[in-house]
This record gives sequence, C-alpha cells and structure tokens, in this order.
Amino acid sequence: MSKVIVTGGCGYIGSHTCIALLSQGYEVVVFDDLSNASKESIDRIEKITEKRPELYRVDLKDKNAAIAAFETHKDAMAVIHFAAYKAVKESVEQPLQYYENNLFSLINTLIALQKFGINNFIFSSSATVYGIPKTCPVTEKSPVSTAFSPYGNTKKIAEEILEDCTHSNAEFSIISLRYFNPIGAHKSGKIGELPNGIPNNLMPYITQTAAGIREQLMVFGNDYPTKDGTAIRDYIHVMDLAEAHVVAVDRLIHQKQENNFEIYNLGTGIGYSVLEVIKAFETQNNLALNYKITDRRKGDVPVVFASTELASQTLGWSAKRDLNSMVKSAWNWEKNYRNENS
Ligand code: UFG
Repeated sequence: MSKVIVTGGCGYIGSHTCIALLSQGYEVVVFDDLSNASKESIDRIEKITEKRPELYRVDLKDKNAAIAAFETHKDAMAVIHFAAYKAVKESVEQPLQYYENNLFSLINTLIALQKFGINNFIFSSSATVYGIPKTCPVTEKSPVSTAFSPYGNTKKIAEEILEDCTHSNAEFSIISLRYFNPIGAHKSGKIGELPNGIPNNLMPYITQTAAGIREQLMVFGNDYPTKDGTAIRDYIHVMDLAEAHVVAVDRLIHQKQENNFEIYNLGTGIGYSVLEVIKAFETQNNLALNYKITDRRKGDVPVVFASTELASQTLGWSAKRDLNSMVKSAWNWEKNYRNENS
C-alpha cells in the first residue's frame, strides 16, 4: 500500500482528500498542528471510510519538529501539503503570521523531503494568484499578478519557491493545484466545512444563516458588470477537488508527468453569480434564505472562472458534481452537525 502524508489533513479540503485517498487504497498519515482544525476530523474520516489515518501532531513551522515527523514516515510515496492559514482578511491584519506560518511550514517541509528523498509533492494553491484576470476563462498561462492579500502572496511566493526547487533537483516532482471556490461536503453528511468564528466565505455563511446561527446573509454588491450584478465565481464540489488530488498523486507516483513542475486549475469552468448560488440553495433545500444586498466587499474580483482544459486533457480529471449537489451536500452537513451538537 502506498503511503501518502497529508499535511493539514484535519482541515476542510485536507479531510475530504484523506477520504478520497483512503477509498482508493492509499495509506494516509495526517500531519496537523490542530491550530485551526479538530482531531475529531480523524474520527469522522474513520466513520466514513472504516479506515483510520494516523494523526501526527506537529507544528511544521518548527524545523526540527518537521524533520522528526517526516523521518518517522520517510517511506511515504508522496506528500500533499494543505497546512496553511487561509483567511484573506485576517492575512491583511496579520501579515507576518501568514508569511511565517505558510512559508516556514512549506520550507521546512521541503527541507525534510529533500533530506529523506521523498520526491513527490502536491501543493495547495489558489486562483487568487491570478488577481483580477483580464479575460475569463483563466488558463494556467494567464499572468500571475500582484497579490491582493498577504494570504494570496504566500501562494504566489510558494509556487516560486517550488519551481526553484525543481530546477535545483531534477528528481523532485511537483504539482501545484490552483483551486477556484471549493464548497459542499461529503455525501454522507458526516464531514464538511467548519470555519472558526464568523465565516468569511459565501457557502458557510449561507448554511449558518439557514441554520439560524447568523441572522442575515449580506450579498456584497449588485452593481458588478455581470448578468444580475452580483460577482461570479467558479464553485467546485470539495469531493471533486479531493479526487483531483488522488489523480495528481497517481500521476506523480507512476511518473506520468511531462514536466517536473506542473500547474493545474481546479474548477468546473462554469461561473455562477452570488444570487444564482443563493437561488440554487433555496430551491434544492426547499427553504428561504434571509439575505440583503449591501456594498461591495473591498478587494473582491467581479468575475473569475477557470479554463478546465489542461486538467481534463493532461491530468485526465474533470469535475463531475454540479451546483445542486454542492448546495445540497453543504446544507446536509450543516444540519447534521447542528443536530449532533444541539
Ligand atoms: N460573498 C457575499 N457574502 C458573503 C460572503 C461572500 O456576497 O457573506 C460573495 C463575495 O463577495 C464573492 C463570492 O461571494 O463574490 C465568493 O466569496 P468567497 O469569500 O466565498 O470566496 P472568494 O472568491 O472571495 O475567495 C476564494 C477563497 C480564497 C481565494 C479566493 C481567490 O476563499 O481563499 O477565492 O481564489 F483566495
């Protein structure tokens, strides 16, 4: 059985990826400092897959601790690196924490990988590296632009570091996956997104409003040059995203890559407006959402959606689940979680 280390494996995308890996027969070891996620994720993964990943609690910012952790699992075939802070607004308020956490963790991980000869690495990147794209769909060749936030900048700098590493070490194979807007949850409703405090992102704000935890959803701006005036994003089901990581691991392990630093967009190629997402949520879940239109949110991009051609042609992966499945699964998880905890 091939072992894969998943850093940040207790988090939202990490935990869903663990499920996808386990169901494809991989052995999974999770490295997590539990600073922004709970070890309960491991129980949830086990409930769904009937396999329990080992959890190694480690702060990857600490170089010696990182090396010790990777040494324990130096027989791993690949590493998927999710461990990072991800709140855009928080990163503007605390840039140094973001640079320290996201970049030190990455660098220490890479140092450990080099030391133990683990050569396959998948990086959790973001469409944020494109800034305000001049045209959509955004292809992987679209220019990377100045980041809007320290969070976005950590992704941009991380990709530069990774590319440099592949230049200095021909054995090193890296795939960087640029996510568009991951939403939804595993179909079991036993695991899903669980943000700390007030959600920043649209879908958890919607589900928490529907659950009565938030009073009202604010729709940030309806004066964008779009079909209904609200901003457009490429929402992708988190399980589609998770499965893309498994395909990327297979590609690296079986040495199918054409280049030792590859980048892929992970989106559906379809852009939906905020109001379309709200409407789908209401219709699919048969409820009415309390929302109102307010001013634009500073730093928001009017329209972003992905070109999915490269992922489909080269990686051999494309998203299968539609918006209805995303909004239904997101609500199913929120409802179950609130029932469990009421
Ligand atoms: N929105 C609202 N109300 C809310 C929250 C969001 O109207 O309460 C709107 C936003 O204005 C935006 C859309 O819903 O138009 C999506 O917003 P999200 O915050 O869910 O996602 P973003 O596109 O702003 O950000 C996401 C990721 C970031 C990443 C960025 C660019 O969360 O990590 O995409 O790739 F950097």
